[in-house]
Amino acid sequence: MLNIPFNRPSILGRELANVQAAVDLGQLSGDGTFTKACNQRIAEMTGANAALLTHSCTAALEMAALLCDLAPGDEVIMPSFTFVSTANAVALRGAVPVFVDIDPETLNIDPEAAARAVTSRTKAIFAVHYAGFPAAMDRLAETARDHGLMLVEDAAQALGSTLNGRAAGSLGDMAAFSFHETKNIISGEGGALTLMRSDLIERAEIIREKGTNRSRFLRGQVDKYTWVDLGSSMLPGELIAAFLAGQLDMAEAIRARRLAIYDRYCAGFADLEDVDRVRMPHVPQGVSGNGHMFYLLLRDIEDRDAFIAHMRAGGVVTPFHYVPLHSAPAGLRYGRADGPLPVTDDTSARLARLPMFWALEDDGVDEIIALARDYLFVRQN
Ligand SMILES: Cc1ncc(COP(=O)(O)O)c(C=O)c1O
Repeated sequence: MLNIPFNRPSILGRELANVQAAVDLGQLSGDGTFTKACNQRIAEMTGANAALLTHSCTAALEMAALLCDLAPGDEVIMPSFTFVSTANAVALRGAVPVFVDIDPETLNIDPEAAARAVTSRTKAIFAVHYAGFPAAMDRLAETARDHGLMLVEDAAQALGSTLNGRAAGSLGDMAAFSFHETKNIISGEGGALTLMRSDLIERAEIIREKGTNRSRFLRGQVDKYTWVDLGSSMLPGELIAAFLAGQLDMAEAIRARRLAIYDRYCAGFADLEDVDRVRMPHVPQGVSGNGHMFYLLLRDIEDRDAFIAHMRAGGVVTPFHYVPLHSAPAGLRYGRADGPLPVTDDTSARLARLPMFWALEDDGVDEIIALARDYLFVRQN
């Protein structure tokens, strides 16, 4: 029997040496040498005007909600097919997540559904780049422009992906990234907020530093620091940043390896997609992905659950997600669906994710494909 987890974190280069160096430098609280280096590297990778490390993507999304000045009664359009943090950030401000459907091709927010959901209360669109594939940002930006809305990228999964040559993180007003251990580049927990809007940078620094102007103080721009706005403690300590810096050094190699695994999966299931037995991810027009995820869409929930059970029995973990937010208990309490969301419900019932991590070797990928094909052939009809 195989023993292949869904994800396994790896140390690839200077992560541990950097952690030791951070200790030697004598600063373990945030915004030291390694945090600044990571901020700069992430800004370069994304083409954003600024990047600020946070302790999670969840925190970066909460910063985005504050920067959008969300208030009770405001509405924010987002997909229901996403992680809870996209919606929590909005609901925590007292605003209402308005859930719309996804495009069946890309599993990203349907830009026409987003346009239809705009009301006089809409303040922002939070677009998720599912599986690392950027959403249809040009059309979403048009809607945002027409109605004076903020456009936020939930780019948790999308570091290193591009749309028409522009990187995720530079496709809206601001973007939230994750370095959780299940992502491509990791620091255990971790995240970053990138900003395209230069006029928001100073306020973002304040929000991230407990609502104080400490960043300006440290740059010598004010002679004392004080409470100037709402905020929280959103920054990671230097040990996390030091580890992350080591991973960021390896970003290109990680992307290349994941894309190789992705391509191997595609080749392994292409014939079964041709006969409509399964569906694989389809790379949207103009998109270059980052190999974050490889999923299969099975026929229905019975087929999907039987597939997951077959893989588990063979020693391979292939989890499903997301439980749609619009029909979740908190989604019903704090949000609303803009009409029925059939693609979201259908996708959630049919999707299974295959293992994807640095240390997964070609032989392992082939064994996973072979095990999956055993099931897919036997349950052909
Ligand atoms: C789309 C999306 N948004 C937000 C998050 C939250 O990220 P974090 O765990 O870094 O807070 C995730 C994590 O899986 C995610 O996939």
